[in-house]
Amino acid sequence: MAPLEHPGSPTAFEDLVDHYDAARPTYPPALYDALPELSGSVLELGAGTGIATRELEERAGTLVSTDLGPKMLARLHERSPSVPVAVCRAEALPFAAASFDVVCGAQMWHWVDVPVAAPDVVRVLRPGGALAIWWNEVAADGLSWWDAQQDRLEAANPRYSRDYRASDYGAQLTPYFSSVEHWTTQWERTLDWPSYERWLRSKSYVQALGDVDAFVAAEQDSLHQHFPDGHIVEPFTVSLWIARTS
Ligand SMILES: C[S@@+](CC[C@H](N)C(=O)[O-])C[C@H]1O[C@@H](n2cnc3c(N)ncnc32)[C@H](O)[C@@H]1O
Repeated sequence: MAPLEHPGSPTAFEDLVDHYDAARPTYPPALYDALPELSGSVLELGAGTGIATRELEERAGTLVSTDLGPKMLARLHERSPSVPVAVCRAEALPFAAASFDVVCGAQMWHWVDVPVAAPDVVRVLRPGGALAIWWNEVAADGLSWWDAQQDRLEAANPRYSRDYRASDYGAQLTPYFSSVEHWTTQWERTLDWPSYERWLRSKSYVQALGDVDAFVAAEQDSLHQHFPDGHIVEPFTVSLWIARTS
């Protein structure tokens, strides 16, 4: 499957730190249990404001968290002051070869230039190390309100497709790693409208719309019809890919 054009900007998050930190979904405990053995040294890519960092910190032997955005990392540092951080792209890692047992990336690998980033990840991994990348995906099957929202987003932004992150990560990673596994789990969260609004505003492809306020107002009307008590239930599938070096 050819990579899709990304409908937002990777640096858009720099102006979205507060919305991002307040409203982005966490990841369920089962995800962390499914990660490769974390007791050694762990490098986190695209760590953002540290939503996954706060859990990795509890489990990792040592942890270094990185992101291309200094403002996102500054928030991470406020929340997790003992985690060392470095501003860098996944495509140019400022670490010596064979420095880490595990490299992780939550909700970020769809941004990277894989033919550049994957060899650099392999370079910084020790032999037998693993790359673990994962995403929360809205479990869209039969979710009419979500389909309607995606229809409106696709109509408003010709660069947006609800499948913009869809990729065969197994095929994508196999040339660089000796094995690739896929794992999924389900979970859901319930948000009130103010939190849901912040989540909408934290998305780079919503920020890429011409009139974000108009889009958000239309979503509020539509969601009120589906969730008259004002509590929006979002079901997620977590999709985790683990790629190992030999
Ligand atoms: C959707 S956020 C995910 C943040 C965090 N991992 C989480 O789970 O909430 C994507 C993050 O990836 C970062 N990012 C985008 N492109 C990147 C790249 N090429 N290398 C490193 N980080 C990147 C962005 O700055 C942003 O903080």
